[in-house]
Amino acid sequence: MTAPLLRLDDVRATLRLKGGEQTLLDGVSLEIGEGEALGLVGESGSGKSLTTRAITRMLGPEFAVTGEIEFGGASVLGMNAAKLRRYRSQDVGMIFQDPRAHVNPVHRVGDFLTEALVQNRGVDRREAERRAVVLLDEVGVRNPEHRLRQYPHELSGGLLQRVMIASVLLTEPRLILADEPTTALDVTAQSDVMAILDEQRRARGLALLFITHDLELAAACCDRLAVMYAGEIVEQGAHVYDAPSHPYTVELLGARPSIDERADRLPVLRYNRETHELMKAEA
Ligand SMILES: Nc1ncnc2c1ncn2[C@@H]1O[C@H](COP(=O)(O)OP(=O)(O)O)[C@@H](O)[C@H]1O
Ligand SMILES: [Mg+2]
Repeated sequence: MTAPLLRLDDVRATLRLKGGEQTLLDGVSLEIGEGEALGLVGESGSGKSLTTRAITRMLGPEFAVTGEIEFGGASVLGMNAAKLRRYRSQDVGMIFQDPRAHVNPVHRVGDFLTEALVQNRGVDRREAERRAVVLLDEVGVRNPEHRLRQYPHELSGGLLQRVMIASVLLTEPRLILADEPTTALDVTAQSDVMAILDEQRRARGLALLFITHDLELAAACCDRLAVMYAGEIVEQGAHVYDAPSHPYTVELLGARPSIDERADRLPVLRYNRETHELMKAEA
């Protein structure tokens, strides 16, 4: 069997505080094969974003990180500055929840899209723009030449997220980390953007770590799901959505709001990590 593209083994991230320490990632292990999509689901605060920051070694000095993180067989925690820079700019691409927070508002869309190619890869500006136009077109942005000359505030959230997807695809990564890429968008833009990301990454054979709190969506576009709770992955596999075995996953699936049912309030989950039992919150 070939080694997975990304492998996390027993990753712990402990925040060092004045009064003591707090373990926020508590032994996370996961694997993503080349071209495979893993959905990472779990409630807010469970450690999903911290996991992506650990993968890209972007946790600050206040964190102590232990365990193994391997990309293409190389230890990410052991990379020197030059290797780390190459890994972040060429091997992985990141898409975040709020595209606006990740663009410079005074730079044109075209400059944003071509920057990495021109500065990190030595691609000629004209050529970089040509590639950007092709990619914008592929991710469904109409009139791409015009868009290159616009500023981020002139684009809707959905359009800007497509620009983000295009910018990631331009650098031809092997793995995309998408951290709630549709959460901040309105409902119609959500499904469009997710469909584009799904289609493009399949067409290119790219691996994907898709973070969401939408189990249904994750199940629809991923090969396997990993369920995170309080800094731990409590269950993972291809079976998770159809046949969850962990009580927390069962509860999480049961808590999905349904369009067929009207509920005055959503159920609140109380999972006890010590006993691995559920407690229903009081109404
Ligand atoms: N820099 C930080 N300092 C202190 N606590 C943090 C920091 N970053 C994240 N946390 C805490 O770690 C937990 C997991 O955060 P996060 O990974 O962002 O959750 P989510 O699953 O919603 O993405 C949360 O309780 C959050 O408050
Ligand atoms: Mg998050």
